[in-house]
Amino acid sequence: MSLRVAFFDTKPYDREHFEPAGLDGRKFHFLEHRLGPNTVATAREVDAVCVFVNDRLDRPVLAQLRAAGVKLVALRCAGFNNVDLAAAKELGIAVTRVPAYSPHAVAEHTVALLLTLNRRIHRAHSRVRELNFSLNGLVGFDLHGKAAGIVGTGRIGRLTAEILRGFGMRVLAYDVQPDTAWAAAHSVTYAPLDRLFAESDVLSLHTPLTPQTQRLINATTLGQMKRGVYLVNTSRGKLIDTAALIHALKSGQVGGVALDVYEEEEGIFFEDHSGGMLQDDTLSRLLTFPNVLITSHQAFLTREALTEIARVTIENLDRLATGQPYLEGTQLA
Ligand code: NAI
Repeated sequence: MSLRVAFFDTKPYDREHFEPAGLDGRKFHFLEHRLGPNTVATAREVDAVCVFVNDRLDRPVLAQLRAAGVKLVALRCAGFNNVDLAAAKELGIAVTRVPAYSPHAVAEHTVALLLTLNRRIHRAHSRVRELNFSLNGLVGFDLHGKAAGIVGTGRIGRLTAEILRGFGMRVLAYDVQPDTAWAAAHSVTYAPLDRLFAESDVLSLHTPLTPQTQRLINATTLGQMKRGVYLVNTSRGKLIDTAALIHALKSGQVGGVALDVYEEEEGIFFEDHSGGMLQDDTLSRLLTFPNVLITSHQAFLTREALTEIARVTIENLDRLATGQPYLEGTQLA
């Protein structure tokens, strides 16, 4: 069978990694728009759809996909909060993801953000290009000897903790399923969340977005943190109540924020809006703070990660074509 797949929200770097494989008896149709209620009709006569983090697969969208003959939703990412898994299961649509394409890519970007923010590299870079060699306002702090709080010690959280241990930071961690053997091996201390909030100089978020973690960082929890705390979020934007964060930045309760994800990133991140106007007033406000650093959901973006995403996704698409079970650990529904 010649497998027909519609790829949504595709960018040049996706095509670069998937297209060569598409020539081999598969029909890959690359669409630039995101999948959602208004675009689901563009998935016609396909066996599978391949989607990314900001495609929306709620029950009505999944029902329409099913009616169009879709048997597999292949997520080319790790997070899956944008898919109604229960609905997919009921409708008989399989859902796969790429659980660990490169946790190193995300952990390294997390630390890159922290170092850039703390040592004002982004500001120094712009200054020097303007021939301003002054150091005023660029004072950072040594990470060595400070406390880092890692919320969520899965694949990415653990690697981030290990890198920060390498800097000589004291690492506190919180997870609903602590990995005590790993913690002992890396001199990491598990503690309740309120202790992480109270003691951390740097707090980094690495949990998935779930009803329990949604807006984990809010006015109350921000108030429990050490004054001047640095926050890093490379996980999911909705873990943070952005309005409360802005308030805490204005009051100085939060000393710096590095974000690779944003609560309302859908429709903004991954796109070039430089010729227009930003309609999101909250994001606009965030961008005015000198101590806020934002990247556009790029933590995953390394050659190694893109290669692995394409490899795992294509393997699963081939398994759909040949009726074999999907790769172990990749099937969600
Ligand atoms: P993982 O599944 O290996 O680890 C997640 C950890 O969070 C687990 O140890 C789990 O027990 C813990 N957890 C779940 N609920 C929790 C709660 N309520 N409180 C505390 N801990 C909780 O996931 P991985 O690979 O480490 O990825 C983490 C997140 O990073 C993903 O869910 C995704 O949202 C995000 N991500 C972001 C990327 C980016 O480009 N910015 C790329 C890849 C992932």
